[in-house]
Amino acid sequence: MPQLLGDRRLSDLQWHRRMDGAAAGNHRSRTNGKTLTDKYFMKHMTRKATRHISQNEGLIFEKSSPGKAAWKLPPLDVPEVDTSKLLGKQERKDLGTMPEVSEIEIIRHFTRLSTWNYAIDLGMFPLGSCTMKYNPRVNEFVSRVEGLANGHPYQPEKISQGALHILKTLSDCLIEITGMDAITLQPAAGAHGELTGLLMVRAYHHSKGHPRKKILIPDSAHGTNPATAAMVGYAVENLKSNESGMVDVAALAAQMNEDVAALMVTNPNTLGVFEHDIHEIAEIMHAKGGLLYMDGANMNALVGKARPGDFGVDVMHLNLHKTFSTPHGGGGPGSGPVAVKRILEPFLPKPVVVSKADGTLGFDYNRPQSVGRVRAFYGNFGMFVRALAYIFANGPDGLRQTTEDAVLNANYIRKGLEGTYDLPYSTRSMHEVVFSDKVQAKKGVRTMDIAKRLIDYGFHPYTTAFPLIVSGAMMIEPTESEPKEELDLFIEAMKSIAAEVEEDPQFVLDSPHNTRISRLDEVAAARKPVLRWKPEA
Ligand SMILES: Cc1ncc(COP(=O)(O)O)c(C=O)c1O
Repeated sequence: MPQLLGDRRLSDLQWHRRMDGAAAGNHRSRTNGKTLTDKYFMKHMTRKATRHISQNEGLIFEKSSPGKAAWKLPPLDVPEVDTSKLLGKQERKDLGTMPEVSEIEIIRHFTRLSTWNYAIDLGMFPLGSCTMKYNPRVNEFVSRVEGLANGHPYQPEKISQGALHILKTLSDCLIEITGMDAITLQPAAGAHGELTGLLMVRAYHHSKGHPRKKILIPDSAHGTNPATAAMVGYAVENLKSNESGMVDVAALAAQMNEDVAALMVTNPNTLGVFEHDIHEIAEIMHAKGGLLYMDGANMNALVGKARPGDFGVDVMHLNLHKTFSTPHGGGGPGSGPVAVKRILEPFLPKPVVVSKADGTLGFDYNRPQSVGRVRAFYGNFGMFVRALAYIFANGPDGLRQTTEDAVLNANYIRKGLEGTYDLPYSTRSMHEVVFSDKVQAKKGVRTMDIAKRLIDYGFHPYTTAFPLIVSGAMMIEPTESEPKEELDLFIEAMKSIAAEVEEDPQFVLDSPHNTRISRLDEVAAARKPVLRWKPEA
């Protein structure tokens, strides 16, 4: 293995230990694997530029040599202090083993590492359900405006009117977009929004004197839905989908009773299918006093076209980090506002923004039925600025067009890959499309193998093995960000992989071939992560 990493002494890198035996095998084949790789690239890949193979990089500790520093302090020009007297036991004579490196070594180390990441700024990120869309630069520009970037949550209301105005305007926009009556911006993620929403559902039923015990959840739901319901203390009852991949209305009617607090439905659901019977679903819930919770993480398929508040939803969350283009995952804190109908307004987390008699804005903390605070201060304010910038930059027509383009792009991919990959549900697709590996599985190649091979073609993998109701799921969400040219390249890559599976399945099973390291033991990496460097004994 060391020879693959150049002549640097990297054999002791901790991440190597995470590679399993199969990965080591792949590495061996890659020392002479270029011919193999080229064979396929020449044959099937004509246009896609693969990712630049950037330099390998050791750990910063391995670059260290004693006495090197990236700083030089001027001579002390104040009286020297006896630190041991000042700090007593807290004084440290040295910092232990810290890397001793020069400034350029630090810069190069982290710059090189940064080139190892895949990013939306490098290419398409077709992770279904995650909506990895482009975060327009205007969002960043606005969020860096000094007064906004440096605002402090402890500033008095009097000098926070601008920030309060942003909270109020964003709230108004989201209420308008969703067709709901009120909103909280506090939750810090989609799942946190679910938790907040269900806490309100629980408080509502308690206030009616009839706390209920169950939440109904379709089998196509995101895993966070049942987890949230369980955290709030509800029993979860599974609802089977019908052959079109939608809620089975007859099954719902049979399962609904006065023990059910709410149905949690994702719309469009995780198959990328719009729940056509949503009005009827709402009526069934309401007839027995239950509430309709909508997981609105997929609102990017509805914005400007349909409003959950108009089709019977009582409470829903949004993922600003998906639909409204704020950064995602490692790129930034999330935001999961929860919008509600009037009946749930008293239970919103406090404080809420209110217009005062003198025309200024302020926070109202006097909310006796509130579920309380769910987040420090008022939520992830920087994300509100970005989301509002996105909404204003697009305007109503732009947002509608965005939705149409997201749906168009998903359907373009669907059309392009139909016949090559199995489509388990033929119902119309919205913003994402779910194929399965049924055809390729006959050759022993599964969804994960195809996803790994996609990396060689310069794309981030799609979502594998989700939703769970599709065996060998390949869930693809291109988002509206992608131009037709990139979609064509993606379709070409996927077709090329399908051809490879027919000709030489083992080659796909051994992929990726063009990456710095091949397959990792992902389970060991998740269960036993090695995150700390320790000096050799
Ligand atoms: C349908 C759905 N619901 C809920 C969530 C959870 O959102 P978060 O990851 O922000 O907690 C996601 C995340 O992508 C999702 O796709």
